Amino acid sequence: MASSAAGCVVIVGSGVIGRSWAMLFASGGFQVKLYDIEQQQIRNALENIRKEMKLLEQAGSLKGSLSVEEQLSLISGCPNIQEAVEGAMHIQECVPEDLELKKKIFAQLDSIIDDRVILSSSTSCLMPSKLFAGLVHVKQCIVAHPVNPPYYIPLVELVPHPETAPTTVDRTHALMKKIGQCPMRVQKEVAGFVLNRLQYAIISEAWRLVEEGIVSPSDLDLVMSEGLGMRYAFIGPLETMHLNAEGMLSYCDRYSEGMKHVLKTFGPIPEFSRATAEKVNQDMCMKVPDDPEHLAARRQWRDECLMRLAKLKSQVQPQ
Ligand code: NAI
Repeated sequence: MASSAAGCVVIVGSGVIGRSWAMLFASGGFQVKLYDIEQQQIRNALENIRKEMKLLEQAGSLKGSLSVEEQLSLISGCPNIQEAVEGAMHIQECVPEDLELKKKIFAQLDSIIDDRVILSSSTSCLMPSKLFAGLVHVKQCIVAHPVNPPYYIPLVELVPHPETAPTTVDRTHALMKKIGQCPMRVQKEVAGFVLNRLQYAIISEAWRLVEEGIVSPSDLDLVMSEGLGMRYAFIGPLETMHLNAEGMLSYCDRYSEGMKHVLKTFGPIPEFSRATAEKVNQDMCMKVPDDPEHLAARRQWRDECLMRLAKLKSQVQPQ
């Protein structure tokens, strides 16, 4: 295997997210060691990564400046966690979303790492204060939450434990940028971090509107895909306010009363009742039947769209 001047990264857990991280780190020239409790998972991951990279190359979408073979030569499996972390500069944990399991793994890693390596979790919703509680190396711990599929969606939420050292956040931020991702800092931990809080706010209102018979499920989705989503791929809700008037202050002067009037009509947290779920499901299945083949095909189409959007964004940015 090739050695890399960029440094060595360890992936703990070689499932869906671990594989994506491996590809991203290799694209940035890092040596990657894949570890998993299941040997077969490591073998599957290596095979799957090879196939994915070849397809990306054919589509002209392989990230980084190295060739497929150069990137592949940077990735290897390692069945022994102690050996894997030796000399590593960053460890990215990607095991299933189970607090006790993750805590067990962090305790194990805590006992074998040095003072320099960063210990990072991919968790979607577990709080850093719970995940890293009591670790000797807590200053080196951070959550780096990717968005699925990470190869096409660059955002990474960085969420520190209250005792995480500022240098850990800065180093992780720089590392994410180096591999072409777009890191953002969550200043203080909060349930759902930022992305899922926004996502759940949207889901919540979508559900209420459908439940109250105001809009059909497929028309609701059109409002995002053909409306709000068109601009949100380029500018966020706050910049949208800024641009939709003569700046933010002008927007607030003009529209805050109207917004408050509408916001007061929002209902309580939905129960996500079976009856509404079935109604939504019926509509969704007309477009995408919920058998594995149709779902996989649609996901593939989604990823191709995201890949093209990423290309477009790289051409039009930065302004
Ligand atoms: P997955 O189930 O695809 O992969 C988990 C891997 O961890 C498996 O290969 C499993 O064998 C391995 N594993 C289990 N116990 C282990 C242990 N003790 N030591 C080493 N490896 C072990 O899970 P996935 O989807 O990759 O998720 C991983 C993490 O990423 C979770 O915390 C999840 O919340 C987070 N995440 C997932 C996203 C998604 O959409 N799948 C998006 C963003 C974050």
